[in-house]
Amino acid sequence: MELNKNNNKPTVFSGVQPSGILHLGNYLGALVQWVEMQDQYNCIFSVVDYHAITIKQNPEELKKRIINVVKMYLASGINPEKAIIFQQSAVSAHTELAWILNCVARIADLNKMTQFKEKAGDQEKTVSVGLYDYPILMAADILLYNTDIVPVGDDQIQHVELTRTLARRFNREYGQIFKVPEVIIKKQGARIMGLDDPTKKMSKSAGSPANYIALTDSPEVATKKIMRAVTDSDSEIKYDLKKKPAIANLMTIYSLLAGLSLKELEQNYKNKGYGDFKKGLAQAISKFLTQFQIKYNSFTDEKVKQILKHGADKIRPIAEETLKNVKNKLGII
Ligand code: TYM
Repeated sequence: MELNKNNNKPTVFSGVQPSGILHLGNYLGALVQWVEMQDQYNCIFSVVDYHAITIKQNPEELKKRIINVVKMYLASGINPEKAIIFQQSAVSAHTELAWILNCVARIADLNKMTQFKEKAGDQEKTVSVGLYDYPILMAADILLYNTDIVPVGDDQIQHVELTRTLARRFNREYGQIFKVPEVIIKKQGARIMGLDDPTKKMSKSAGSPANYIALTDSPEVATKKIMRAVTDSDSEIKYDLKKKPAIANLMTIYSLLAGLSLKELEQNYKNKGYGDFKKGLAQAISKFLTQFQIKYNSFTDEKVKQILKHGADKIRPIAEETLKNVKNKLGII
């Protein structure tokens, strides 16, 4: 990849935690837009392993997941010749800058974070400090690379807002260093909801696998999950997010995977019931998963390790330069 400062392309940074199985929400909300951006931008995509350990992980599982997340990136169409792919923990400037930003952030900033409240639930006193602090590490990820754009699903908007606040505050208090990044989300697909509960987002950490379609689910398993997915009380196939959130969610998934507009879907399923609609959706998902998994299985662990090493070696100097400038501003020489 040509991550050189002279090519005038804006820089894009984003990442996924290797904390569970990636699902259609991650794919449609994040990965799809990353793929679309890799020709026009300097793209940096991280496997954010230090974020994953904010919740206890099984070390053997984590090792495999780090590799598998990269395979998911590649299967989605991210091209390591165009975009940098690297493991967060391989560039130690991330945790160093996170510490510095900890000293710029206020407790009140973090107390506003809704995702922490959702994740911690009634365990607020016993979850790790890292879980509470995780948006600061995310801010460090973004700010190290003079990032212009952060493509994410809508659950991450608040964290990017915090990143912007910290960048501005640091610049004001110590002098101009950080670029203030913009968040970008997809018009359709930024918030894919759970199949078992359309009021909550599809999530890696959902209690039941009936909540999500994993990118590694077999077509048979995915079909069963779709056939069992919650629907709304009437039987009309119509997109109405407020009145019919379940079918609106299924229609969004269908539309994105089959390349059909919501209007076309309404037309195709006029006077037909949920049964027919779900069969069509299950077919579209099965076709997608089959193609995705052929690619996913074609990459070796060795190839992934090479890509990660190459990626980290390429961007480490950029991160270190930013960190050095930040330390200078702070008087740490
Ligand atoms: P994570 O690993 O939870 O999710 C990865 C990406 O998937 C998006 N996403 C969804 N999009 C639509 N519908 C859903 N149901 C859904 N669930 C997840 C997320 O919005 C995200 O874009 N903190 C981040 C990772 C991170 C990061 C960063 C992102 C760490 N540092 C710097 C951008 C920039 C996270 O936990 O994402």
